[in-house]
Amino acid sequence: MQRREFILGALGTGVVSSSVVELISAVSSSALASEAGPTIPYGAAIRVDHLTDDPDYAAAVRKYCQQVVGEGGLKWIDLRPTQSSFNFDQPDRLLAFADENGMTMRGHTLVWYAAMPEWTEGIGSRSEAEFEMVHHIEVVAGRYRGRIPSWDVVNEPIADDPPQADPYRDSVWYRQLGKEYIDLAFQTAAAVDPAAQLVLNDFNFEKTNARSKKRRTVMLDLLKGLKDRDVPIHALGLQGHLTGEAEIDKDGLSRFVEEVSGLGLDILVTELDVIDNNLPGTETVRDQIAALRVRDYLTAICDATQPKAILTWGISDRYTWVPIWFERRDGKLNRPLPLDQNYQPKAMMQVLQEFTKAGA
Ligand code: G3I
Repeated sequence: MQRREFILGALGTGVVSSSVVELISAVSSSALASEAGPTIPYGAAIRVDHLTDDPDYAAAVRKYCQQVVGEGGLKWIDLRPTQSSFNFDQPDRLLAFADENGMTMRGHTLVWYAAMPEWTEGIGSRSEAEFEMVHHIEVVAGRYRGRIPSWDVVNEPIADDPPQADPYRDSVWYRQLGKEYIDLAFQTAAAVDPAAQLVLNDFNFEKTNARSKKRRTVMLDLLKGLKDRDVPIHALGLQGHLTGEAEIDKDGLSRFVEEVSGLGLDILVTELDVIDNNLPGTETVRDQIAALRVRDYLTAICDATQPKAILTWGISDRYTWVPIWFERRDGKLNRPLPLDQNYQPKAMMQVLQEFTKAGA
């Protein structure tokens, strides 16, 4: 029996035989990264405060990352305490850390439906929405022109389970400006920083189920429309919040990435992690299943194109969003990321190093 089926078999039984544990030690001795530098930059979402209050966290980021992105800091809720003010403290600190450590910083995110400050609920007309969105992008992307080379310009524009009739996610921007808010956001960002890589970022394109298939179709249509209208978009960001118990639709994902690339768009993996609340409790088995999902995901993408970057949404299980929504019933810590809560590398980190250093 192939080792992957044997490990995934543990998923079904929930029982971990001693032979699985022996097997796992074999699996985790996969080829280590070559000594060559990274051919695909690896990065992680960062919680800026922990760069100062947790030296081991900062050390881990320095050890493994060539890129950083703020998990927060550049969202409206962090940046815009009031309609007339901007608070750049967090992004400025992260950019300083990136500069000091020879890393590049991604900007997440200029336009989103979520993490919006209360005052934006008062945006009640087309002209107000247009002014606020354009002004925000001009000030924020303008401040970091030439210093943040890649932006998630629009985040998660399609509905979770997009209806055929109207696949766009509700937001103040969509309500007031229609789907053309996406065009305007990219046109504004391009005008402010013509050299920046402008990315549309979304999730859930990798499963075998009907929803993922629908989302692939809707996203492809959206991107084709943007390209047909000569909207200045450069890349699709695949977030990659993988569901631990869900098989990766490798053929479907590969075909999707091929079609996106065929539009002249690059691919980034922007928020990779494995939501493991429904995986078996045994850490070693969970870590191997998570690593296999990441391997399948990156294999499917890299079979079609070389992503411009691979970022995980956090770097250590010590700091992850996952338990906010996907707490484990057995009360154990989620283990979604490449380093454990003591910053020790797991099988997932070896997979990431295979795909980033030696190239896919
Ligand atoms: O900083 C406050 C703290 O002062 C307060 O005590 C605490 C309790 O209310 O909240 C803290 O803010 C939280 C913030 O994360 C910082 O930890 C917010 O409540 C919480 O909503 C926020 O969640 C973030 C979420 O986006 C919404 O912005 C997650 O950390 C972050 O991982 C998540 O990231 C998103 C991406 O931006 C887009 N793709 C999906 C991804 C996961 O949901």
